[in-house]
Amino acid sequence: MSVKIGDRIFENGKEFIAVEFTSNLSENKGTLIRLGEEIEKQVALFRHQGKLFCLSNICPHRHQPSIYRGYVENGCVTCPEHFWTYRLDTGENINQKQGIKKLKTYEVIEKDGVILIHIDYFEKPK
Ligand code: FES
Repeated sequence: MSVKIGDRIFENGKEFIAVEFTSNLSENKGTLIRLGEEIEKQVALFRHQGKLFCLSNICPHRHQPSIYRGYVENGCVTCPEHFWTYRLDTGENINQKQGIKKLKTYEVIEKDGVILIHIDYFEKPK
C-alpha cells in the first residue's frame, strides 16, 4: 500500500504525517508546508547535500514566515529578511551575537516517494 499526502503512519513509535512528494523537492530550495491556519503551523522543507530537513518557517528574529525562501549553503539556511543564519540540522543561529533564539526542527523521513514529518509540538513565536 503506498503512502498518500495527508496519511498518518507510525514509525519507531512516533506518528508521522505525509506532507509532500519527494519529487517536488529541489536541492537547496525550500518548500512551504502549511499544517493549519496558525502561523506557527508552517514548516519549511529542504533537501541539502542529499539529506532532508524540516524546520519552523517562522524566523525567530522578527517572526517573518520566510524561512522557506532562505538561501541554503554549507548546512545552513539564511533568512532572506535580515540574513540571520540557522543550521539545518539543529536550527541553531550560527551567530550567537544575534541572540540564542533558534528555529524549531522536526524529524523527517522519506517513504514510497513521499516525505513525512513528525510534529511533537508547534512552537509559537515569542
Ligand atoms: S526576520 Fe529573519 S532575519 Fe529578520
